[in-house]
Amino acid sequence: MAPRPGLAMVFALLAAMCCELAVSAAAPSAASDAAAAAPCAACHGEHGEGMAAAHVPRLAGQAADYLQKQLDNYTDGSRDSPTMTNFAKALSEPQRAKLAVRYAAMSAAYLPEATPLSAQALARGHQLANQGDETKRVQACNGCHGPDGMGVPRAAPYMAGQSAEYLAGALKAFQGTRKNDAGQLMRSVAQRLDDADIAAVTGYFASLGASAWIIDKGQPLATPLP
Ligand code: HEC
Ligand code: HEC
Repeated sequence: MAPRPGLAMVFALLAAMCCELAVSAAAPSAASDAAAAAPCAACHGEHGEGMAAAHVPRLAGQAADYLQKQLDNYTDGSRDSPTMTNFAKALSEPQRAKLAVRYAAMSAAYLPEATPLSAQALARGHQLANQGDETKRVQACNGCHGPDGMGVPRAAPYMAGQSAEYLAGALKAFQGTRKNDAGQLMRSVAQRLDDADIAAVTGYFASLGASAWIIDKGQPLATPLP
């Protein structure tokens, strides 16, 4: 789904804010760290809840090591996004680490999907998540992403409660430009999924949000808040 015209405008304005961020990144200090979070919240939400319609991911409660790796990957080019590359490049390395820890510690309300899946698609999604598909040589997602897709810190991100729009975009990216998965773990999975599988499995994970512990609690903090 393409972002609505209103959102495109917001994005253009926010992209312009990037330059102010670059100024604060040049002289890291407590004040500039606080300022660095502001442009993020405009898209990712005050509580890291994301914006499904614009394919902006939820960050709340995602493991800090994963978030930091993504910010590093936007700067080193192994993950490509016209939006995020500029924002990540404007941050110093300590700022990237601090923002990752901050979002990992957040909790945000679950936002239910606007268009729930059919029972048949939900069943297919459940199958891919829990058993995989031997005929297509697709491993069960939860083997890496944890029971109910709740994520495994230092291994794989959570998918429960993430929007279907964002997850589907990420799988398409792994079929194309996203090359930041160690050992090509995700690229080899993504290339075996067709569009119907992608719709089923991402809709299934999005639908799990309400019951996932991660939505309420966030990740336990390994390090104190900056
Ligand atoms: C203009 C909107 C916008 C702003 C501002 C923005 N982001 Fe993003 N962010 C996005 C979008 C869209 C994506 C998904 C891009 C993709 O598909 O790779 C994303 C992806 C991410 C991811 C990857 C999450 C994942 O699950 O893999 C992280 C981490 C992130 N942003 C952190 C930040 C931080 C920190 C800031 C502030 C410095 C920020 N973003 C500012 C729109 C934005
Ligand atoms: C062999 C382990 C493994 C399996 C199996 C696996 N994944 Fe992943 N997945 C990963 C890892 C590791 C990452 C993080 C890669 C990185 O560093 O960006 C990831 C990332 C993702 C992302 C990006 C999330 C984000 O926030 O950007 C999506 C979407 C995803 N996987 C979907 C799936 C689906 C759907 C399946 C099942 C059909 C699946 N994965 C099976 C290991 C796996």
